[in-house]
Amino acid sequence: MSSSIQFSQQTLAVSRKNLAPERKICNPFVVVCRASVADTQTLPKNSSTSSLKKPLMITKNLPHDIHDERKVISMGKSGRFGGKFVPEILMTCLTQLEAEFNLALHDSQFQEELRTALRDYIGRETPLYFAKRLTDYYKDKNGGEGPEIYLKREDLSHLGAHKINNAIAQAMIAKRMGLKSVVAATGAGQHGVAAAAACAKLSLECTVFMGKEDMEKQASNVLSMKLLGAQVKPVEGTFKDASSEAIRNWVGNLETTYYLMGTVVGPHPCPMMVREFQSVIGKETRRQAMEKWGGKPDVLVACVGSGSNALGLFHEFIGDHDVRLIGIEAAGFGLDSGRHSATLSRGEVGVYHGTMSYLLQDEEGQILAPHSIGVGLEYPGVGPEVSFLKETGRAEFHSAMDEEAIDACQRLSRLEGIIPALESSHALAFLEKLCPTLANGTKVVVNVSGRGDKDAATVLELIQT
Ligand SMILES: Cc1ncc(COP(=O)(O)O)c(C=O)c1O
Repeated sequence: MSSSIQFSQQTLAVSRKNLAPERKICNPFVVVCRASVADTQTLPKNSSTSSLKKPLMITKNLPHDIHDERKVISMGKSGRFGGKFVPEILMTCLTQLEAEFNLALHDSQFQEELRTALRDYIGRETPLYFAKRLTDYYKDKNGGEGPEIYLKREDLSHLGAHKINNAIAQAMIAKRMGLKSVVAATGAGQHGVAAAAACAKLSLECTVFMGKEDMEKQASNVLSMKLLGAQVKPVEGTFKDASSEAIRNWVGNLETTYYLMGTVVGPHPCPMMVREFQSVIGKETRRQAMEKWGGKPDVLVACVGSGSNALGLFHEFIGDHDVRLIGIEAAGFGLDSGRHSATLSRGEVGVYHGTMSYLLQDEEGQILAPHSIGVGLEYPGVGPEVSFLKETGRAEFHSAMDEEAIDACQRLSRLEGIIPALESSHALAFLEKLCPTLANGTKVVVNVSGRGDKDAATVLELIQT
């Protein structure tokens, strides 16, 4: 079934102006009938973050025999955020995807295969590392007092970032659905590399869309994708443009192709699936903290591009109200510069790429181009569940500027011999503000979402000029 739907090149977004109050939606990517159903199904506070604990009703022979589609439709709302703002043609695909995902979650063979892949292919569990010299550095600056800093080493995962946790699991789902090829979009290239590797392992064709500017900045990842057998398709612009192009490609090839979402955005069930597959990060952290100091962490810190590494760490602890959850966005050249990716700090609610969430948009609801030195943080939106955590106050969100991230990258490299990705460096940068405010011995875990080899040239060029 190939689609005749034509998407506007301009935008796949719904403007703030158009949304209120009568929810008139004019863009072809969003279909008002489904969206308005979604909007009336707001879940009670806190319930949406653990949707998997309440399995959906699923008919027996799904997904190949969906004789009563309504039984498996859920709208995936996190408060007022999330939903499925998509044209009718995609509803069946998303319903099938959700059904297959739920079947896989309850399939012991799938779970065993995933456990084996996480252990033997990705190299999990990743260490929870006590950063002694970084800890001492902050103690020395604060009269000998300060927190103990631990690093969750996602940089040690296969291919050097958390992205592979999700890519391998979703490629396994694509395989279960009998699909032959995978399409993905990437910014920093880490998700592209992860998708390419997962496809190679599972014998799936892989096409990765990537912005031309990002291809230049992250050239080593482009080479890796090609070596792994993926086709890399350059797109005019950056990650948001690559995402739009990948969606357009997928919609034209629904019968054969799986859209492998790399982060917690897009229409339901994509954000829920990615969060579930990344939640291994937090589960391991809880176990490792118990082993190391016999308790929970006091504070968790992660960078927020769209939110997959942050939710991966936070989700396990959402019910533990004594654990502080802190997400760090990219302030680029500054929050007032107009050149940043601080969606939660400066965005407003709108619909983009099939979901309702905070968005960087102008008065007319047109998407504003994001900026960050960490290319993987350059997205104008953020996951709906992340927006929900902000709105309920369960998590705090702050930001770090480009130059603060570069300093943090050098600091960790020189104090601990670990080169963090520039994305992760935003989380590390916030320690400068956080550490002086914390009591002696507070246990802080920072998610090092990826390694920084891909960024070495950028950092050296900037510090030498
Ligand atoms: C190493 C690394 N960390 C963080 C991110 C940001 O993505 P997310 O917010 O989904 O974790 C990226 C995105 O490419 C990345 O490559």
